[in-house]
Amino acid sequence: MRDPSSPRAPEMTDRKIPTGTISPRVFSETSPPRALVFDSGVGGLSVAADIHAALPGLVLTYAADNAFLPYGEKSEAELIARVPELLEGWRREFAPDLIVVACNTASTVVLPAVRALVPVPVIGVVPAVKPAAKHTRTGIIGLLGTPGTVRRAYTDGLIREFAADKTVIRHGSSGLVRLAEAKLRGHPPDEAAVAAEIAPLFAGTEGANIDIVVLACTHFPLLRSELARAAARPVQFIDSGAAIARRVAQLLPDRAREIALRDGPPGLRPALFTAMDDTLPALEGALNGFGFSALRQMASER
Ligand code: DGL
Repeated sequence: MRDPSSPRAPEMTDRKIPTGTISPRVFSETSPPRALVFDSGVGGLSVAADIHAALPGLVLTYAADNAFLPYGEKSEAELIARVPELLEGWRREFAPDLIVVACNTASTVVLPAVRALVPVPVIGVVPAVKPAAKHTRTGIIGLLGTPGTVRRAYTDGLIREFAADKTVIRHGSSGLVRLAEAKLRGHPPDEAAVAAEIAPLFAGTEGANIDIVVLACTHFPLLRSELARAAARPVQFIDSGAAIARRVAQLLPDRAREIALRDGPPGLRPALFTAMDDTLPALEGALNGFGFSALRQMASER
């Protein structure tokens, strides 16, 4: 899986890049802390849900780069050339106190470039290899991500650092990303299609002994029940959403955290999309369920 010509895994240096501290400002009920949650598509809604459950008073804006989805099939250079500018544009427009890159595919490659450009703390999401290694009993872990995430040098580094004595079976799927996008637009995923997407993970003697599957793409928790039904054997699925929510809470200054722990102002928050797309109206119901409304879907704004 590892490409010997790929550069040294960047995680040793990346993790030392400070996330940054939130600029001091006066937080109050009328001026609560704000975060921008970003993904290529609807996957980051799974992370937004975990953040909202932990910090209901943190005002979230959702941003999706649907014009460029799926990120898992883009090169590292393409993502580095695109994502930092995009996030800096939204930061200028919406003035969040922090940004959550709720996308493993982007986080495992663009965080240093984003942090170099964007002057607010940026939290990324990376595959939950560490907790999986801690909890596996068979010693065999499945890592289900996008094709980009499973081949990243960053992922190699996580496995070397936290799961060197375990067997990690990686499988990349863009099909599951498409199924999650369709599910939130009202098309229930075909069970056989889900099963076909994950079958390679469980193939072979080692695959048959997987007991934990890391959902290393934020779209996949949106398919958790379908994945559980489709898995070849009962396995535990873990993701990074709750850990991200804890990290956000840690970064908030005390006064901001106090406000974020209470209920926030009522109403739907904006969800932004980089492409006007005929399927966005069908997404509105699911977006509302997550507390958002696709305010930028009007063709007149494009
Ligand atoms: N949700 C994204 C992730 O966590 C990727 C989906 C895509 O391929 O665009 O990796």
